[in-house]
Amino acid sequence: MIQPHWRLEQLETFITEEQIQQRVAELGAQISEDYRGKDLLLVAILKGSVVFLADLMRHITIPHSVDFMATSSYGAATRSAGIVRILKDLDIPILDRNVLIVEDIVDTGHTLNYLRRMLLSREPASLRVVTLLDKRARREVDVPLDYVGFEVPNAFVIGYGLDYAEFYRNLPYIAIPKEGFFDEPPEE
Ligand code: IMP
Repeated sequence: MIQPHWRLEQLETFITEEQIQQRVAELGAQISEDYRGKDLLLVAILKGSVVFLADLMRHITIPHSVDFMATSSYGAATRSAGIVRILKDLDIPILDRNVLIVEDIVDTGHTLNYLRRMLLSREPASLRVVTLLDKRARREVDVPLDYVGFEVPNAFVIGYGLDYAEFYRNLPYIAIPKEGFFDEPPEE
């Protein structure tokens, strides 16, 4: 088994673990208040949102259920056309349910825009979005965000579920790689 090098010294912490935990608690409290007395289904988008989901759902103090979807974008050309491949669909119907999409980061907005349109066609009672990070400067398609954790600049960020080449998802904070980080592949 090849062990990737962490190269943590080449990462700059952008959002600390404490800042994330505080903001996730606030989001959980707000969502609990907004959906009180309603049926709530969290739809998490794999894999990036699993860490956020795990923390967020423990701060949601009303009954709710969870389901997962997995997507993958095609190549650059079809991506800008907003076509997203569904690798895993929901296990359950969402007709008349209050659905809250849980995203890690909204970048160009194509993934979320496609998912929203697809889920809306299934006629949920409501459809909202919570995203931990909003990379607004990169947006190519306008997509409504109901709950946002933090805005991030136009940089590649990793940690707290977000990966580089499938690694670094387990960092408890959000980091921006420093110059030179991408010069070497993650494995050696
Ligand atoms: P969009 O369709 O361009 O909005 O892309 C959203 C998806 O791209 C996210 O759910 C992430 O999986 C991935 N992504 C976008 N920006 C980053 C980043 O800075 N780090 C890690 N993954 C990212």
